[in-house]
Amino acid sequence: MREIRLVEACHICDIAEIERLCFGEPWSEKALELLLRDGNFGVTVLEEGVPVSYVGVISAVPEGEITNVATHPDFRRRGIAGELLEFLKKEAADRGIDSLYLEVRRSNEAAKSLYEKSGFSVIGERKGFYKNPKEDAVLMGWRKE
Ligand SMILES: CC(C)(COP(=O)(O)OP(=O)(O)OC[C@H]1O[C@@H](n2cnc3c(N)ncnc32)[C@H](O)[C@@H]1OP(=O)(O)O)[C@@H](O)C(=O)NCCC(=O)NCCS
Repeated sequence: MREIRLVEACHICDIAEIERLCFGEPWSEKALELLLRDGNFGVTVLEEGVPVSYVGVISAVPEGEITNVATHPDFRRRGIAGELLEFLKKEAADRGIDSLYLEVRRSNEAAKSLYEKSGFSVIGERKGFYKNPKEDAVLMGWRKE
């Protein structure tokens, strides 16, 4: 059974594992705990009670910065990240956040396509933003209508 929930402390261990599977410089459990305080939040999709995808948001009402979006490799191309971002936009609006921003590697066509389908558009670039390997970031944003 698939469910969508706000990230809680009990999800952090599984989300850290998703980070390790998805990124060269994964967020640690300690770093992910930032999503549990100061108005920040995360949303996770659970399959049979286990997180398989998540998104994190650093909140600075009325803006929010998306830290990462990741789906466990075994659960990709099932519409999970798309569902996650739809839920995220409603949750953000409920919290008084009317615009969301994120950076994405220029070469990450899967993520850019996901964000465009979810209503984000390109608003700028950051030269040499990423390391290991070095790459420009594309800055994308979403604004509540
Ligand atoms: C990007 C990512 C989060 C997508 O997760 P997902 O759950 O597989 O995404 P969905 O199944 O909801 O796909 C939604 C849309 O994203 C795009 N997309 C997802 N995977 C794609 C791929 N491999 N190639 C091209 N487009 C892709 C498509 O537009 C897709 O819509 P479609 O299925 O109708 O074509 C996942 O590939 C991932 O975790 N990648 C590694 C981590 C990462 O790069 N995160 C982004 C950091 S900025």
